[in-house]
Amino acid sequence: MALDADRIRQLRAALLSWYARSCRSLPWRGESDPYRIWVSEVLLQQTQVATAVPGFHKFLRAFPNLETLAAAPLQSVLQVWQGFGYYRRAEQLHAAAQQLVREGWPSSRAGWSRLPGIGPYTSAAIAAIWLGEPCSAIDANVRRVLARLYAELQPSFSWLVRRSDQLLDRSQPGRWAEALMDLGATVCRPARPACPECPWRPQCAAARAGSPQAYPAPKPRYRTARAAAVLVMSSGGRYLLEQRGAGGLWAGLWGVPAEWLGRTDSQEAALERLLDRFRATDPQALGRLRYLLTHRTLELSVYRAQGPSDPLRYLDPAEVPLSSADRRILQLAGVRVER
Ligand code: ADE
Repeated sequence: MALDADRIRQLRAALLSWYARSCRSLPWRGESDPYRIWVSEVLLQQTQVATAVPGFHKFLRAFPNLETLAAAPLQSVLQVWQGFGYYRRAEQLHAAAQQLVREGWPSSRAGWSRLPGIGPYTSAAIAAIWLGEPCSAIDANVRRVLARLYAELQPSFSWLVRRSDQLLDRSQPGRWAEALMDLGATVCRPARPACPECPWRPQCAAARAGSPQAYPAPKPRYRTARAAAVLVMSSGGRYLLEQRGAGGLWAGLWGVPAEWLGRTDSQEAALERLLDRFRATDPQALGRLRYLLTHRTLELSVYRAQGPSDPLRYLDPAEVPLSSADRRILQLAGVRVER
């Protein structure tokens, strides 16, 4: 169904006047400092707004501008990033900060997209919001809103680009992007959309069909399962923690020693390998934790044991960046870990 110019005008006016009344008050709204806009968009890549808001304040307190971020050691950036997950973002933010200090702020979406950690969505969001460049930022929220507006069960990426470029208000692309984001987050929600409050209800094909939540059709999601034995060893109120290797899960972060189970491995064999590695004794099972990542389910069997006597191997968990999974492991072992 092609939209005629009148309908497009109506849709634009309805969304922008709804946004003027109902926009969320978020700390990066109305911001003109590219540093703050960039940090907010990277945080929002995989973090809910409710976590991103305090995260944004915490990050800016620690690194108030580009220069402080670029000059900071990666470890302290990871430390501040604790609890937001997807730590690769923090590494890339740090690498990009150093590049930006050398090269200056990009002046186009294409320039932004050449920075580490900036994908098509983030480059479009930043270019629209900071530069006023007319480009469409398409994420899962926008996908859902458009799929419903046109009752499209399986929107392809090129379909989404066409539709959103057609609707985009080129005179105010940043405001447009944030209005669509807010509509998707607060009204056109995945479950129980608030259709009576929706400025697009009169034109929405999915609402007319009576089942807006059926659009778009759910994508099948496959999670592979991995299991590990993990070992909590303590001495004098400190814990034996290791830094996770580059390239693997939680690279660069610290955590309790872990042994991943091979395909034909058993929990006991993995535990034995761990005990051997540290010459640890008296293992005691503390329980199992199930931890969900986007594409993986982790089954962690947590043990406590008597570890090696060398005091230098034990650290204060508050002094190193830990993954959320490691914080949960330590909590299971009765350790108070600050977020
Ligand atoms: N999600 C991604 N970017 C956002 C923004 N600027 N405001 C609200 N939610 C967002």
